[in-house]
Amino acid sequence: MERTSADIDALFSTLLAVPPDPRARLYEAMRHAAIGGGKRMRPLLAVAAASLFHVDRSHALRAGLAVECIHVYSLIHDDLPCMDDDDLRRGKPTVHKAYDECTAILAGDSLHALAFEVLADPATHEDPFVRAELVAELARAAGPSGMAGGQMIDLAAASGTFDLAAVTRLQQLKTGALIGFCLEAGAILGRVPAAGRTGLRGYARDVGLAFQIADDLLDVEGEEAKTGKRVGKDGEAGKETFVSLLGAERARQQARLLVDQALEHLQTFGSEADLLRAIARFAVERDH
Ligand code: IPE
Ligand code: IPE
Ligand code: MG
Ligand code: MG
Ligand code: MG
Repeated sequence: MERTSADIDALFSTLLAVPPDPRARLYEAMRHAAIGGGKRMRPLLAVAAASLFHVDRSHALRAGLAVECIHVYSLIHDDLPCMDDDDLRRGKPTVHKAYDECTAILAGDSLHALAFEVLADPATHEDPFVRAELVAELARAAGPSGMAGGQMIDLAAASGTFDLAAVTRLQQLKTGALIGFCLEAGAILGRVPAAGRTGLRGYARDVGLAFQIADDLLDVEGEEAKTGKRVGKDGEAGKETFVSLLGAERARQQARLLVDQALEHLQTFGSEADLLRAIARFAVERDH
C-alpha cells in the first residue's frame, strides 16, 4: 500500500505540474485533492489484479491512476455544499473550502478528463484495443450505470424508503462499480478472455459491498482523527445505509460474510492472489 501510494503521488505530481498562468489555481486545487492522502485502495487493487497475469507494473499503475482520478473527482463533488456539504477530507479542508466552489467543480471536471487521457496514452498499453477496452470500461463504471448513477440514488436515499435490496443496488453503483473496474483493468491488461474473469468479478462485487458497509460503519463508530473526514453525517442526513437498516453488529457480520465469499472466488488462484486476499480483509477491518 505504501509503495503504491508513493508511486501514485509521484505520477500525479508529474501530470499536474502547475503552469505559470491563471490556470495555476485549478492545478493547485487538483494537487490538493489528489496528492498526499487516501488509502489508494483502488490503484492497489488494480496492481494486485494485474500482477496475477504478469502485467507490467507501470501499465497497472496507470490504470490505477485513472480510476483514482475518477474517485478523487467523485469525492470533490460529493463534498460540495449541494451534496454532502463536508469541510474535511483526507485530514485536510475540502477543495471548495480551501479554494472555492467554482474551482472545486472545475478540479473535479479536470480529474474526470485526466482519467481518460491517461488510459488513452500509449504509455498505458501498446495495444490500442486494450486501451479502448479500458476507456470503455471506466466510462461505464463512472457514469449513470455506475458511480454517478449511484450518487443519484444516494441523494434519494435521504428522503425515500429504502429496503436492503435497494441499498445494495445503491452501493453497488456508487462504490462497487469503480472497484469492479480495478479488477477488470487487471484482466484487460493481462488480455484475459471474458470467461476467465468470473472469479475476479465475484470478488469485486463482494469486496465493493463490504468496503462500503465498512465506510458506513466508520460514519457511525469511527474517529475523525483516523478517517480524516467528518463522522455522523449519514444519520444526520437521514440516509438509509446497511447500518441504519441492520444495526452496526449485523452490518459488520454481513461485511465479514462478504469477505469470506470474496476469498472463495479466488480459490482457483494460489499464493499469487495473497495480496488480493489481504486487501479483502483490510476492506472491512479498517479504522480509516
Ligand atoms: C471513500 O472512499 C468513499 C467511498 C466510496 C466509500 P475511500 O475510503 O477509498 O477514500 P480514500 O481514497 O481512502 O480517501
Ligand atoms: C461517496 O459516498 C461515494 C462517492 C461516489 C464519492 P460517501 O458520501 O459515503 O463517501 P464519504 O463518506 O463522504 O467518503
Ligand atoms: Mg455521499
Ligand atoms: Mg460524502
Ligand atoms: Mg460515507
